[in-house]
Amino acid sequence: MRKKPLRRSGGKKEKTSVSVPAPERISGEERTRYNIFWCASECAPFAKTGGLADVSAALPQALARRGHELTVILPFYNWKMNPLSLHYDDMFPLEVPFRGGVFRCRVRTLRPEKGLTYCFIEYDRFFDRPGLYDWQGASYGDNGERFIFFSRACMELASSLGRKADILHLNDWHTALCAAYLKSPLYRENPVFRECRSVLTLHNVGYQGDFPGETFACTGLPPEFFRFDALEYYGRLNLLKGGIALADEVNTVSPTYAGDILSSACGCGLEGALRYCAGKGRLRGILNGIDVKKWDPACDKFLPAPYTVSDMSGKEKAKKALAEHFRLSYETSSKKVVPFFGVLSRLAFQKGLDVLADALEGLLPRMEARFVLIGAGDPHLQWRYTSLMERCRGKFACHIGMAEDSLAHLLEAGCDFFLMPSRYEPCGLNQMYSMRYGTLPIVRSTGGLADTVKNYDANDPSSSTGFVFYDLTVPALQNTILWADSTYKNSFGDILTMRKNAMSTDFSWDRTAEKYEEMYRNAHQ
Ligand code: ADP
Ligand code: GLC
Repeated sequence: MRKKPLRRSGGKKEKTSVSVPAPERISGEERTRYNIFWCASECAPFAKTGGLADVSAALPQALARRGHELTVILPFYNWKMNPLSLHYDDMFPLEVPFRGGVFRCRVRTLRPEKGLTYCFIEYDRFFDRPGLYDWQGASYGDNGERFIFFSRACMELASSLGRKADILHLNDWHTALCAAYLKSPLYRENPVFRECRSVLTLHNVGYQGDFPGETFACTGLPPEFFRFDALEYYGRLNLLKGGIALADEVNTVSPTYAGDILSSACGCGLEGALRYCAGKGRLRGILNGIDVKKWDPACDKFLPAPYTVSDMSGKEKAKKALAEHFRLSYETSSKKVVPFFGVLSRLAFQKGLDVLADALEGLLPRMEARFVLIGAGDPHLQWRYTSLMERCRGKFACHIGMAEDSLAHLLEAGCDFFLMPSRYEPCGLNQMYSMRYGTLPIVRSTGGLADTVKNYDANDPSSSTGFVFYDLTVPALQNTILWADSTYKNSFGDILTMRKNAMSTDFSWDRTAEKYEEMYRNAHQ
């Protein structure tokens, strides 16, 4: 028999000795000022492996600027932390109930601007490691425990601050469990959370926090939470699935990906749970933004010279500097300037870079263009690209590992084209960074790439911003690279038009932050 789905008792008024004020209005406006706890496993510049860190940096800032009170809760990865986080404004102890006992940790806080506080949970046994989630391609065996502990610590920290919470904004599987805690007897009677709602952002459904069923015991939740309509998935614990089932609102980071994940091709086994969520009107797609101050060719301290749409001379200087950095020649022996193609990516199956490696094997011997890649991840791909560099010196160069910001910015600015042949892409930030620098993306039409890049139309390039292909095959990718290359050689005027279009597109967070506010409002209805 089907059991009733789990529900929060939030709707009913219950007796409490503490009075809980309703969310305030932002003065003079019809907007509500929310007290938001943003819970995430990474945030730039403190600790980063990918785009989640960029979003955790920029969106809370944008929301704080709009008058909300933001507390960003992160693990303190002692080994991996940017030295910036070693300066802190305050430090206090926190006790976290875990595995039948109490784990004592420390909280470091930073308050860089009004309305924005960072709280780092310091518990070295779990977080002081050489990698955030894995080491040399192998996930840590206790990742389940590590992030169950972190989720519980987020709840305890929010509770200990004593200020009424309006929104728990959860990100990916690492913190999805907080949606279950919020609806559980452990926290639902707590006055801090009485009016609180949870929102789960799915940055990537391919990573789910899937662990053996016995790991459920670490959550401390009652057994009814280990059911098909909560955290259980074929006898295993699936933290992301639990979040999808129990969060008040769920969103993905682009509209197209919100549709993609309803199919078995992109739902990675959770398409059933996601379709159920969409059917209830709880799933939406909100396109990510980018930090337009940090990524701005007009005042980028990492470039040899600034540039703008009206004076692009600095872009050529960046290209020369990039060529020098990678010891590639900027021109052919007959002094003809060649196009540069770039990649800056995690080396993961998702990114389609195995197909790119195959495509380059065939293309490099017959093209004059140069290719540069910065990437870290899958050891086999790292080896493939290193070996390609050894065999094709002068045409292909790579940097294996996480690059400094200075090199990442130089690559975005110095290339003519930016490659993203993703199998799937929830949003993708790099195509937007590259467009901001007039570097035209070459993308497979999927998820956020389909939502952000407008394919080249030779008859009317006035709104084109890049090159799009559809099938992830070696010939399709090769043909698209050759198409971009021949456009560069034969129709450079169109390339200039597309650069202007790309640089003028508005990808700022301010455009998007409003949509998050709307989702918070919905969660409260
Ligand atoms: P994902 O989150 O799937 O990795 P995104 O495009 O959303 O993809 O974001 C990737 C972020 O990580 C960008 O800020 C990108 O510049 C950065 N990045 C990826 N790989 C590297 C690397 N090897 N060195 C430096 N930055 C990297
Ligand atoms: C994920 C996705 C990427 C997205 C990023 C930030 O890592 O793979 O497409 O841009 O999260 O939301």
